[in-house]
Amino acid sequence: MTPADPARLRRVLAGHLTAAGVLKTPSWRSAVEAVPRELFLTSFFKDETGPDGLAHYTPVSRDAGETEWLTLVHQDETWTTQIDGHVTPDTADGPVTGFPTSSSTMPATVVGMNEALDVDDGMKVLEIGTGTGYSTGLLCHRLGEDNITTVEVDPAVARRADAALEEAGYSTWTVTGDGLLGHPRRAPYDRTVATCAVRRIPYAWVRQTRPGGIILATVGPSAWSYGTGLAKLTVQGDGGAEGRIIGRTSFMPARAETAAPLSGDLSARAAYADSSRRTSLSPDVLDEWMPAFLTQLAAPGAQWVRTIGGDQETAYLFDTGREAFAALTVDGSGWNVRQGGPVALWDAVENAVTAWREAGEPDITSIRLKVTRTAHTYWFDSRPALRWTHPHPPLGA
Ligand SMILES: C[S@@+](CC[C@H](N)C(=O)[O-])C[C@H]1O[C@@H](n2cnc3c(N)ncnc32)[C@H](O)[C@@H]1O
Repeated sequence: MTPADPARLRRVLAGHLTAAGVLKTPSWRSAVEAVPRELFLTSFFKDETGPDGLAHYTPVSRDAGETEWLTLVHQDETWTTQIDGHVTPDTADGPVTGFPTSSSTMPATVVGMNEALDVDDGMKVLEIGTGTGYSTGLLCHRLGEDNITTVEVDPAVARRADAALEEAGYSTWTVTGDGLLGHPRRAPYDRTVATCAVRRIPYAWVRQTRPGGIILATVGPSAWSYGTGLAKLTVQGDGGAEGRIIGRTSFMPARAETAAPLSGDLSARAAYADSSRRTSLSPDVLDEWMPAFLTQLAAPGAQWVRTIGGDQETAYLFDTGREAFAALTVDGSGWNVRQGGPVALWDAVENAVTAWREAGEPDITSIRLKVTRTAHTYWFDSRPALRWTHPHPPLGA
Protein backbone atom coordinates (compact mmCIF):
# COMPACT_ATOMS: atom_id res chain seq x y z
CA MET A 1 0.00 0.00 0.00
CA THR A 2 1.57 3.32 -1.05
CA PRO A 3 0.76 6.69 0.55
CA ALA A 4 -0.95 7.66 -2.73
CA ASP A 5 -3.33 4.69 -2.84
CA PRO A 6 -6.66 6.37 -3.81
CA ALA A 7 -8.77 3.71 -2.05
CA ARG A 8 -6.93 4.39 1.18
CA LEU A 9 -7.24 8.16 0.70
CA ARG A 10 -11.00 7.73 0.20
CA ARG A 11 -11.27 5.76 3.44
CA VAL A 12 -9.32 8.50 5.24
CA LEU A 13 -11.67 11.12 3.77
CA ALA A 14 -14.71 9.07 4.84
CA GLY A 15 -13.24 8.76 8.34
CA HIS A 16 -12.72 12.52 8.50
CA LEU A 17 -16.30 13.21 7.36
CA THR A 18 -17.64 10.70 9.90
CA ALA A 19 -15.61 12.21 12.73
CA ALA A 20 -16.87 15.67 11.72
CA GLY A 21 -20.45 14.40 12.09
CA VAL A 22 -21.21 14.98 8.39
CA LEU A 23 -21.23 11.39 7.16
CA LYS A 24 -23.89 9.52 9.11
CA THR A 25 -25.28 6.63 7.09
CA PRO A 26 -23.45 3.52 5.86
CA SER A 27 -24.83 3.89 2.33
CA TRP A 28 -23.33 7.37 1.88
CA ARG A 29 -20.10 6.17 3.52
CA SER A 30 -19.84 3.42 0.96
CA ALA A 31 -20.39 6.00 -1.81
CA VAL A 32 -17.54 8.18 -0.49
CA GLU A 33 -15.32 5.09 -0.25
CA ALA A 34 -16.18 3.98 -3.79
CA VAL A 35 -16.37 7.07 -6.03
CA PRO A 36 -12.90 7.97 -7.37
CA ARG A 37 -12.66 11.75 -6.91
CA GLU A 38 -9.41 11.77 -8.92
CA LEU A 39 -11.33 11.00 -12.14
CA PHE A 40 -13.29 14.22 -11.65
CA LEU A 41 -10.26 16.30 -10.71
CA THR A 42 -7.62 15.34 -13.26
CA SER A 43 -6.65 19.01 -13.01
CA PHE A 44 -7.83 21.88 -10.85
CA PHE A 45 -6.72 25.20 -9.38
CA LYS A 46 -5.14 25.59 -5.97
CA ASP A 47 -5.80 29.07 -4.58
CA GLU A 48 -3.67 31.31 -2.44
CA THR A 49 -4.05 34.96 -1.49
CA GLY A 50 -1.48 36.98 -3.44
CA PRO A 51 0.38 40.12 -2.33
CA ASP A 52 -2.39 42.17 -4.03
CA GLY A 53 -4.96 40.63 -1.67
CA LEU A 54 -6.63 38.74 -4.54
CA ALA A 55 -6.99 34.98 -4.84
CA HIS A 56 -4.38 33.58 -7.22
CA TYR A 57 -5.24 30.24 -8.80
CA THR A 58 -2.38 27.87 -9.69
CA PRO A 59 -3.07 24.88 -11.95
CA VAL A 60 -2.44 21.45 -10.39
CA SER A 61 -2.48 18.12 -12.19
CA ARG A 62 -0.87 14.71 -12.05
CA ASP A 63 2.21 16.42 -13.60
CA ALA A 64 2.83 17.97 -10.16
CA GLY A 65 3.62 14.42 -8.96
CA GLU A 66 1.18 11.60 -8.44
CA THR A 67 1.30 11.61 -4.64
CA GLU A 68 0.88 15.35 -4.21
CA TRP A 69 -1.97 15.52 -6.75
CA LEU A 70 -3.85 12.55 -5.24
CA THR A 71 -3.37 13.80 -1.70
CA LEU A 72 -4.82 17.20 -2.61
CA VAL A 73 -7.70 15.61 -4.55
CA HIS A 74 -8.77 13.70 -1.44
CA GLN A 75 -8.67 16.63 0.94
CA ASP A 76 -11.93 18.03 2.22
CA GLU A 77 -11.55 21.10 0.02
CA THR A 78 -13.39 22.85 -2.76
CA TRP A 79 -11.21 22.74 -5.87
CA THR A 80 -11.95 25.31 -8.56
CA THR A 81 -11.92 23.91 -12.09
CA GLN A 82 -12.95 26.94 -14.15
CA ILE A 83 -12.41 30.70 -13.83
CA ASP A 84 -14.42 33.45 -15.51
CA GLY A 85 -16.47 30.97 -17.53
CA HIS A 86 -13.63 29.76 -19.75
CA VAL A 87 -10.18 29.51 -18.09
CA THR A 88 -9.38 25.92 -17.09
CA PRO A 89 -6.24 24.47 -15.50
CA ASP A 90 -5.33 22.99 -18.89
CA THR A 91 -5.45 26.37 -20.65
CA ALA A 92 -3.72 28.43 -17.94
CA ASP A 93 0.07 28.37 -18.15
CA GLY A 94 0.58 29.85 -14.68
CA PRO A 95 -1.31 31.39 -11.77
CA VAL A 96 -4.42 33.34 -12.77
CA THR A 97 -6.88 35.64 -11.03
CA GLY A 98 -10.60 35.86 -11.67
CA PHE A 99 -13.98 34.63 -10.49
CA PRO A 100 -14.51 30.86 -10.00
CA THR A 101 -17.33 29.60 -12.22
CA SER A 102 -17.05 25.83 -11.74
CA SER A 103 -15.59 23.57 -9.09
CA SER A 104 -15.78 20.35 -7.17
CA THR A 105 -17.40 21.48 -3.94
CA MET A 106 -15.80 20.34 -0.69
CA PRO A 107 -16.95 16.81 0.19
CA ALA A 108 -18.24 17.91 3.62
CA THR A 109 -20.77 20.19 1.91
CA VAL A 110 -21.77 17.74 -0.81
CA VAL A 111 -22.06 14.78 1.56
CA GLY A 112 -23.86 16.89 4.16
CA MET A 113 -26.40 17.87 1.51
CA ASN A 114 -26.79 14.26 0.37
CA GLU A 115 -27.45 13.20 3.97
CA ALA A 116 -30.02 16.02 4.30
CA LEU A 117 -31.86 14.72 1.23
CA ASP A 118 -33.18 11.74 3.28
CA VAL A 119 -33.14 9.47 0.24
CA ASP A 120 -34.49 5.94 0.00
CA ASP A 121 -33.59 3.23 -2.51
CA GLY A 122 -35.12 3.75 -5.94
CA MET A 123 -35.69 7.50 -5.58
CA LYS A 124 -35.26 9.76 -8.61
CA VAL A 125 -33.05 12.79 -8.12
CA LEU A 126 -32.64 15.94 -10.20
CA GLU A 127 -29.30 17.63 -9.58
CA ILE A 128 -28.66 21.20 -10.76
CA GLY A 129 -24.99 22.16 -11.28
CA THR A 130 -23.09 19.05 -12.36
CA GLY A 131 -19.70 20.77 -12.13
CA THR A 132 -17.01 18.10 -12.22
CA GLY A 133 -19.62 15.35 -11.76
CA TYR A 134 -18.21 14.14 -8.41
CA SER A 135 -21.43 14.84 -6.50
CA THR A 136 -23.35 13.17 -9.36
CA GLY A 137 -21.11 10.12 -8.97
CA LEU A 138 -22.00 9.89 -5.26
CA LEU A 139 -25.72 10.08 -6.12
CA CYS A 140 -25.32 7.42 -8.85
CA HIS A 141 -23.51 5.10 -6.46
CA ARG A 142 -26.23 5.47 -3.83
CA LEU A 143 -29.36 5.40 -6.03
CA GLY A 144 -28.33 3.93 -9.38
CA GLU A 145 -27.35 5.81 -12.52
CA ASP A 146 -30.83 5.51 -14.09
CA ASN A 147 -32.36 7.44 -11.20
CA ILE A 148 -30.12 10.49 -11.51
CA THR A 149 -30.57 13.42 -13.88
CA THR A 150 -27.99 16.16 -13.66
CA VAL A 151 -28.10 19.53 -15.43
CA GLU A 152 -25.08 21.71 -16.17
CA VAL A 153 -25.37 25.07 -17.92
CA ASP A 154 -21.84 25.17 -19.34
CA PRO A 155 -21.45 22.82 -22.32
CA ALA A 156 -17.67 22.31 -21.87
CA VAL A 157 -18.10 21.59 -18.16
CA ALA A 158 -20.97 19.18 -18.90
CA ARG A 159 -18.85 17.35 -21.51
CA ARG A 160 -15.95 16.88 -19.10
CA ALA A 161 -18.28 15.72 -16.30
CA ASP A 162 -20.05 13.27 -18.59
CA ALA A 163 -16.73 11.75 -19.69
CA ALA A 164 -15.52 11.46 -16.08
CA LEU A 165 -18.81 9.86 -15.00
CA GLU A 166 -18.54 7.35 -17.86
CA GLU A 167 -14.99 6.53 -16.83
CA ALA A 168 -16.16 6.02 -13.26
CA GLY A 169 -18.78 3.61 -14.60
CA TYR A 170 -21.90 5.80 -14.42
CA SER A 171 -23.87 6.32 -17.64
CA THR A 172 -26.26 8.77 -16.16
CA TRP A 173 -28.32 11.57 -17.75
CA THR A 174 -26.01 14.56 -18.02
CA VAL A 175 -28.10 17.31 -19.53
CA THR A 176 -26.62 20.56 -20.87
CA GLY A 177 -29.04 23.38 -20.16
CA ASP A 178 -30.28 25.95 -17.72
CA GLY A 179 -31.05 24.07 -14.53
CA LEU A 180 -33.32 26.90 -13.38
CA LEU A 181 -35.83 25.32 -15.77
CA GLY A 182 -35.32 21.86 -14.25
CA HIS A 183 -35.61 18.98 -16.71
CA PRO A 184 -39.32 18.30 -17.30
CA ARG A 185 -38.72 15.28 -19.55
CA ARG A 186 -37.73 13.04 -16.65
CA ALA A 187 -40.03 14.57 -13.99
CA PRO A 188 -41.45 14.01 -11.46
CA TYR A 189 -38.45 13.71 -9.16
CA ASP A 190 -38.41 12.58 -5.54
CA ARG A 191 -35.59 14.97 -4.76
CA THR A 192 -34.23 18.14 -6.38
CA VAL A 193 -30.84 19.36 -5.22
CA ALA A 194 -28.84 22.35 -6.42
CA THR A 195 -25.11 22.88 -6.07
CA CYS A 196 -25.27 26.47 -7.26
CA ALA A 197 -27.00 29.28 -5.33
CA VAL A 198 -30.28 30.77 -6.51
CA ARG A 199 -31.94 34.07 -5.68
CA ARG A 200 -35.21 32.22 -5.32
CA ILE A 201 -36.36 28.62 -5.79
CA PRO A 202 -37.51 28.37 -9.42
CA TYR A 203 -41.15 27.39 -9.50
CA ALA A 204 -40.24 24.83 -12.20
CA TRP A 205 -38.47 22.79 -9.49
CA VAL A 206 -41.63 22.77 -7.35
CA ARG A 207 -43.70 21.62 -10.34
CA GLN A 208 -41.21 18.90 -11.26
CA THR A 209 -40.81 17.47 -7.73
CA ARG A 210 -43.58 15.13 -6.64
CA PRO A 211 -45.77 16.03 -3.61
CA GLY A 212 -43.92 14.86 -0.50
CA GLY A 213 -40.61 15.23 -2.35
CA ILE A 214 -37.78 17.45 -1.13
CA ILE A 215 -36.02 20.44 -2.69
CA LEU A 216 -32.61 21.37 -1.27
CA ALA A 217 -30.90 24.52 -2.50
CA THR A 218 -28.87 27.50 -1.38
CA VAL A 219 -30.85 30.73 -1.46
CA GLY A 220 -29.68 34.29 -1.02
CA PRO A 221 -27.34 36.83 -2.46
CA SER A 222 -26.06 36.51 -5.97
CA ALA A 223 -23.34 39.10 -5.54
CA TRP A 224 -22.01 38.12 -2.12
CA SER A 225 -20.13 34.96 -1.23
CA TYR A 226 -21.78 34.75 2.20
CA GLY A 227 -25.10 35.49 3.81
CA THR A 228 -26.76 32.54 2.08
CA GLY A 229 -28.83 29.73 3.56
CA LEU A 230 -29.54 26.11 2.66
CA ALA A 231 -33.30 25.79 2.13
CA LYS A 232 -34.96 22.39 2.58
CA LEU A 233 -38.53 22.39 1.35
CA THR A 234 -41.18 19.69 1.11
CA VAL A 235 -43.44 19.90 -1.92
CA GLN A 236 -47.10 19.98 -0.96
CA GLY A 237 -50.24 18.77 -2.66
CA ASP A 238 -51.49 22.33 -3.18
CA GLY A 239 -48.71 23.17 -5.64
CA GLY A 240 -46.52 24.94 -3.06
CA ALA A 241 -43.43 23.93 -1.11
CA GLU A 242 -42.66 24.70 2.51
CA GLY A 243 -39.78 24.17 4.87
CA ARG A 244 -36.92 25.98 6.53
CA ILE A 245 -33.36 27.14 6.22
CA ILE A 246 -31.34 24.27 7.69
CA GLY A 247 -27.94 25.94 7.82
CA ARG A 248 -25.38 28.21 6.23
CA THR A 249 -23.96 27.29 2.86
CA SER A 250 -22.02 29.14 0.24
CA PHE A 251 -22.17 28.31 -3.47
CA MET A 252 -21.32 30.09 -6.67
CA PRO A 253 -24.46 31.73 -8.06
CA ALA A 254 -26.48 30.25 -10.92
CA ARG A 255 -25.00 31.73 -14.09
CA ALA A 256 -28.11 33.55 -15.26
CA GLU A 257 -28.34 35.17 -11.84
CA THR A 258 -24.75 36.31 -11.46
CA ALA A 259 -24.99 40.02 -10.80
CA ALA A 260 -22.84 42.24 -13.02
CA PRO A 261 -20.42 44.11 -10.76
CA LEU A 262 -21.46 47.68 -10.08
CA SER A 263 -19.35 49.97 -12.19
CA GLY A 264 -19.10 53.59 -13.26
CA ASP A 265 -19.32 56.63 -11.03
CA LEU A 266 -21.33 55.33 -8.08
CA SER A 267 -21.42 58.73 -6.39
CA ALA A 268 -23.14 60.15 -9.49
CA ARG A 269 -25.73 57.39 -9.33
CA ALA A 270 -26.40 58.34 -5.72
CA ALA A 271 -26.23 62.09 -6.25
CA TYR A 272 -29.91 62.94 -5.74
CA ALA A 273 -31.26 61.65 -2.47
CA ASP A 274 -34.85 61.87 -1.27
CA SER A 275 -33.81 61.82 2.38
CA SER A 276 -30.80 62.09 4.65
CA ARG A 277 -30.60 61.09 8.31
CA ARG A 278 -28.40 59.62 11.02
CA THR A 279 -28.41 55.86 11.47
CA SER A 280 -27.31 53.90 14.50
CA LEU A 281 -26.74 50.80 12.35
CA SER A 282 -23.17 50.66 11.08
CA PRO A 283 -22.82 49.16 7.60
CA ASP A 284 -20.05 46.97 9.08
CA VAL A 285 -22.89 44.75 10.29
CA LEU A 286 -23.36 43.56 6.69
CA ASP A 287 -20.00 41.81 6.91
CA GLU A 288 -21.75 39.34 9.22
CA TRP A 289 -23.58 36.35 7.79
CA MET A 290 -26.99 36.74 9.42
CA PRO A 291 -27.45 40.50 8.83
CA ALA A 292 -26.32 39.89 5.23
CA PHE A 293 -29.01 37.22 4.86
CA LEU A 294 -31.59 39.56 6.45
CA THR A 295 -30.54 42.31 4.04
CA GLN A 296 -31.46 40.06 1.15
CA LEU A 297 -34.84 39.39 2.76
CA ALA A 298 -35.48 43.09 3.37
CA ALA A 299 -33.97 44.42 0.13
CA PRO A 300 -33.96 41.50 -2.33
CA GLY A 301 -31.58 41.86 -5.25
CA ALA A 302 -29.68 44.76 -3.67
CA GLN A 303 -25.94 44.91 -4.24
CA TRP A 304 -23.45 45.99 -1.64
CA VAL A 305 -20.21 47.85 -2.29
CA ARG A 306 -17.80 50.04 -0.31
CA THR A 307 -15.63 52.66 -1.98
CA ILE A 308 -12.98 55.10 -0.84
CA GLY A 309 -12.70 58.49 -2.55
CA GLY A 310 -10.15 60.86 -1.02
CA ASP A 311 -10.33 60.07 2.67
CA GLN A 312 -14.11 59.48 2.59
CA GLU A 313 -15.37 55.92 2.69
CA THR A 314 -18.90 55.32 1.36
CA ALA A 315 -20.92 52.14 1.76
CA TYR A 316 -23.56 51.76 -0.95
CA LEU A 317 -26.57 49.53 -1.26
CA PHE A 318 -27.98 49.65 -4.79
CA ASP A 319 -31.13 48.05 -6.13
CA THR A 320 -30.51 48.56 -9.83
CA GLY A 321 -33.84 46.95 -10.80
CA ARG A 322 -35.83 49.48 -8.81
CA GLU A 323 -33.32 52.31 -9.18
CA ALA A 324 -33.03 52.78 -5.44
CA PHE A 325 -29.93 53.43 -3.37
CA ALA A 326 -28.68 54.00 0.14
CA ALA A 327 -25.30 55.69 0.63
CA LEU A 328 -23.70 55.60 4.08
CA THR A 329 -20.85 57.82 5.20
CA VAL A 330 -19.24 58.25 8.58
CA ASP A 331 -18.16 61.43 10.38
CA GLY A 332 -16.95 62.18 13.88
CA SER A 333 -20.39 61.61 15.39
CA GLY A 334 -21.44 58.43 13.58
CA TRP A 335 -23.09 57.21 10.39
CA ASN A 336 -25.28 59.16 8.03
CA VAL A 337 -27.49 57.58 5.38
CA ARG A 338 -28.82 59.22 2.22
CA GLN A 339 -31.55 57.29 0.41
CA GLY A 340 -33.11 57.69 -3.00
CA GLY A 341 -35.60 55.91 -5.26
CA PRO A 342 -39.01 54.30 -4.77
CA VAL A 343 -37.94 52.20 -1.74
CA ALA A 344 -35.97 53.28 1.31
CA LEU A 345 -33.45 50.42 1.26
CA TRP A 346 -31.64 51.25 4.49
CA ASP A 347 -34.92 51.71 6.41
CA ALA A 348 -35.85 48.17 5.37
CA VAL A 349 -32.44 46.74 6.36
CA GLU A 350 -32.37 48.64 9.65
CA ASN A 351 -35.88 47.48 10.57
CA ALA A 352 -35.02 43.85 9.79
CA VAL A 353 -31.73 43.81 11.69
CA THR A 354 -33.21 45.71 14.66
CA ALA A 355 -36.21 43.35 14.89
CA TRP A 356 -33.88 40.34 14.66
CA ARG A 357 -31.69 41.73 17.47
CA GLU A 358 -34.74 42.45 19.62
CA ALA A 359 -35.86 38.87 19.07
CA GLY A 360 -32.58 37.65 20.60
CA GLU A 361 -30.70 37.15 17.31
CA PRO A 362 -32.26 33.81 16.36
CA ASP A 363 -30.15 31.51 14.20
CA ILE A 364 -30.65 31.19 10.44
CA THR A 365 -32.20 27.75 11.10
CA SER A 366 -35.24 29.39 12.68
CA ILE A 367 -36.22 30.94 9.35
CA ARG A 368 -39.07 29.27 7.50
CA LEU A 369 -39.80 29.55 3.80
CA LYS A 370 -42.91 28.92 1.75
CA VAL A 371 -42.82 28.99 -2.03
CA THR A 372 -46.01 29.28 -4.04
CA ARG A 373 -46.65 29.87 -7.71
CA THR A 374 -46.70 33.62 -7.05
CA ALA A 375 -44.30 34.39 -4.19
CA HIS A 376 -41.61 33.41 -1.68
CA THR A 377 -42.46 34.13 1.95
CA TYR A 378 -39.80 33.99 4.68
CA TRP A 379 -40.58 34.27 8.40
CA PHE A 380 -39.10 33.51 11.80
CA ASP A 381 -40.48 30.46 13.59
CA SER A 382 -40.72 32.18 16.92
CA ARG A 383 -41.75 35.58 15.47
CA PRO A 384 -44.28 34.96 12.69
CA ALA A 385 -44.78 38.73 12.38
CA LEU A 386 -41.16 39.05 11.26
CA ARG A 387 -41.89 38.09 7.67
CA TRP A 388 -40.98 39.11 4.14
CA THR A 389 -42.95 38.28 1.00
CA HIS A 390 -41.20 38.48 -2.36
CA PRO A 391 -43.66 38.31 -5.24
CA HIS A 392 -42.31 36.48 -8.28
CA PRO A 393 -41.92 38.57 -11.41
CA PRO A 394 -44.75 37.90 -13.86
CA LEU A 395 -44.04 34.94 -16.16
CA GLY A 396 -42.00 36.03 -19.14
CA ALA A 397 -40.57 39.03 -17.25
C1 LIG B 1 -20.11 24.50 -7.33
S1 LIG B 1 -20.17 23.87 -8.94
C2 LIG B 1 -20.92 22.29 -8.77
C3 LIG B 1 -20.19 21.30 -7.95
C4 LIG B 1 -20.50 19.90 -8.34
N1 LIG B 1 -21.80 19.49 -7.92
C5 LIG B 1 -19.39 18.96 -7.92
O1 LIG B 1 -19.50 18.31 -6.91
O2 LIG B 1 -18.41 18.92 -8.64
C6 LIG B 1 -21.57 24.77 -9.61
C7 LIG B 1 -21.88 24.41 -11.02
O3 LIG B 1 -23.16 24.92 -11.31
C8 LIG B 1 -23.17 25.26 -12.67
N2 LIG B 1 -24.31 26.15 -12.92
C9 LIG B 1 -24.40 27.48 -12.69
N3 LIG B 1 -25.60 27.94 -13.07
C10 LIG B 1 -26.29 26.88 -13.55
C11 LIG B 1 -27.59 26.73 -14.10
N4 LIG B 1 -28.40 27.78 -14.24
N5 LIG B 1 -27.97 25.50 -14.51
C12 LIG B 1 -27.14 24.43 -14.38
N6 LIG B 1 -25.88 24.52 -13.88
C13 LIG B 1 -25.47 25.73 -13.45
C14 LIG B 1 -21.82 25.92 -12.88
O4 LIG B 1 -21.46 25.97 -14.25
C15 LIG B 1 -20.93 25.01 -12.04
O5 LIG B 1 -20.37 23.99 -12.83
